[in-house]
Amino acid sequence: MKVAISGKGGTGKTTISATLARLAARRGYRTLAIDCDSNPNLGASLGLSFDVLDAAEALPKSIQGREPMSADRLITGYGIEAPDGVTLVIGARVDQAAGG
Ligand SMILES: Nc1ncnc2c1ncn2[C@@H]1O[C@H](COP(=O)(O)OP(=O)(O)OP(=O)(O)O)[C@@H](O)[C@H]1O
Ligand SMILES: [Mg+2]
Repeated sequence: MKVAISGKGGTGKTTISATLARLAARRGYRTLAIDCDSNPNLGASLGLSFDVLDAAEALPKSIQGREPMSADRLITGYGIEAPDGVTLVIGARVDQAAGG
């Protein structure tokens, strides 16, 4: 099952996404959470520390627009283990002003 959460700014998308992901993982579902916000903070809502998140690698821009990557390759290459067994992938991150 794939679930996409979208909507207006500040309406609770990240909070709901993290909660759904953690509940699914606790129920035994293999759960991959992909943060598609260019200012990503799903990891913090999933319970990861800022030290872990600062060191975490987002998907590189070089893979964007290429052949679709399988979920297994995404997880192996870029997955970050989060509480309750959720795996987080950070889809993009703007690292410096005007870098987007
Ligand atoms: N059900 C809720 N009741 C009250 N406050 C909430 C609820 N859900 C989220 N919040 C709070 O609202 C704020 C915005 O939530 P959140 O960051 O999840 O929204 P968002 O849609 O992801 O925002 P953005 O568009 O900036 O990414 C946060 O401070 C969060 O704690
Ligand atoms: Mg958000």
